[in-house]
Amino acid sequence: MNKISLPKNSQMLKKDFTYGVATASFQIEGGANKRLLCIWDTFCAKENTIVDGSNGEIACDHYNRWQDDVELIDSLGVDAYRLSISWPRVITESGKLNQAGVDFYIGILNELKKRNIKAFVTLYHWDLPQHLEDNGGWLNRDTAYKFQQYADLISKAFGGLVYSYATLNEPFCSAYLGYEIGVHAPGIKGRENGKKAAHHLLLAHGLAMSVLTKNSPNSHNGIVLNFTPAYPVDSKSDNIIAASFADDYFNQWYIKPIFDSKYPEIMQQLPQDCHPDIQTGDMEIISHPIDFLGINFYTRAVYKASDDDYFEELAPSGKLTDIGWEVYPQAFSQLLVSLNERYDLPPVYITENGAAIDDEIVENEVNDQDRVDYYQQHLLSVNQAIESGVDIRGYFAWSLMDNFEWAEGYLKRFGIVYVDYESQKRTIKSSGHAYKTLISNR
Ligand code: FCB
Repeated sequence: MNKISLPKNSQMLKKDFTYGVATASFQIEGGANKRLLCIWDTFCAKENTIVDGSNGEIACDHYNRWQDDVELIDSLGVDAYRLSISWPRVITESGKLNQAGVDFYIGILNELKKRNIKAFVTLYHWDLPQHLEDNGGWLNRDTAYKFQQYADLISKAFGGLVYSYATLNEPFCSAYLGYEIGVHAPGIKGRENGKKAAHHLLLAHGLAMSVLTKNSPNSHNGIVLNFTPAYPVDSKSDNIIAASFADDYFNQWYIKPIFDSKYPEIMQQLPQDCHPDIQTGDMEIISHPIDFLGINFYTRAVYKASDDDYFEELAPSGKLTDIGWEVYPQAFSQLLVSLNERYDLPPVYITENGAAIDDEIVENEVNDQDRVDYYQQHLLSVNQAIESGVDIRGYFAWSLMDNFEWAEGYLKRFGIVYVDYESQKRTIKSSGHAYKTLISNR
C-alpha cells in the first residue's frame, strides 16, 4: 500500500509532533562560484574520489531555485525544514560576514517564517572552508575556535529567524570518514588522525554551544549525531566484546563526552598516538548542556572478533537499500531506548532517516514502494521507542529531494522528491505523497 500509517493513539499523530524534511548545503545548493572553496570542492576534483566523477558545482541548483523549493517544501505540508549553512558562503577568508551569502539564507529563513515552517539550521554539514583545511582543518585545534567565531557571527546575523540550531552534523563522519579512512573530504587516512579530528570537532561543538546559548537563548540548540548500532554476529563472548568495542569506537565516542564528560573506556586500549589531545577544561566545554539531541539513523552493522584488529565488520545481508545498507528497523527503537537508558537525554529529534532506492520516473511518476515501506517500518519503530518512554519530539525525512550523495555522487537517490538533473525538474515521489498524507491527516 502506498500509505504510511501509525496506531490511532500514537503520539506521532498529535499536531505538536514535528514532521520535517532535511537537506544539506553542499548536497543541494550549487552556486559554487558565489562562495569560497570548501574541502568537498577539492576532494571532488581529485581522481577516484566520487563514484560518478561529479561535484557540487550545480547540484540541485537550489541556490537559484530556492523560492520554488520552499514552495515545494510547503506543498508537502511539513512543520519544519532542516537545512545547513555553508560556512564558506557566509564567512570571508579574513573571518568577517559575507553579507551576500548571509542574505541568501535570510531570504530562505524569512520565507519559511512567512509560511509558518520552523527552521532547523545546522551550522556544519561537512563543507569546511578550504583555507582552514590548508591550515590543518580539524586536525588543528584552532579550527574549533574558528567555528565558534562563525557560530557567533551567524547567530547574531540570523536574529530570531531560527527555531533550532544544531552545531554539527554527524561528527563521526567528518572525523572517521574524512580523517581516518579518507573516503570523504579531505581524504586523510590514519587511525592517529581520526580521534584527534573527533576531539576538535566536539570541542567546536561545545564552544559554539556557549555562543548560541548567549546569542540565541530562545532557539533549541544542540547537535546531530548518527548511530549505526553494533550487533554481534552471535552470542559468543568474544563476538559480543568485539561488537561492544565497535559501538564505543563509532557511536558512543561522540555522545558520551557530551553527556558524561568523558570518552569511552576503550580509549585506554588504543595506541597512545591515537588518543585525542585533551587540554584542561576541554571536557567541560564539550559537555555544555544541550536543549535537544538530533539522531540520524539508517542501518545497523554486524561484527565478529578479529585476530588482528579490535573487531571485524561483516558484509550486510538481508534486505538492502540501493546504497547497500541493511533494512533493519528494529535497531532503531532499540537504539533510542538504549540511549535513553544510558544517558540523561534532552528531548530528541530524529533529524535524518530514509532510504536510497534505484528510482525510475515513468510518465511523471515515481512509484518508490520500497521507500514507502522503509518509512512505514521506521516510523513505527520510532513510535515504539516513544511508547517505551523516550521523549521524541519530531522526525525529519532524509531527504527533501535527490541530491549529491557525497562519495556516491548523484547515483544514489534519497529524496522523497525526484530530481531530473538535466532539467532540474522536481517530481514528488509516491513516498512524498504518502508522507504528506500522513502529516496532513493528523
Ligand atoms: C548522512 C548524511 C546526509 C546523507 C545521508 C544519506 O550520513 O548526514 O548528508 O548523505 O547520510
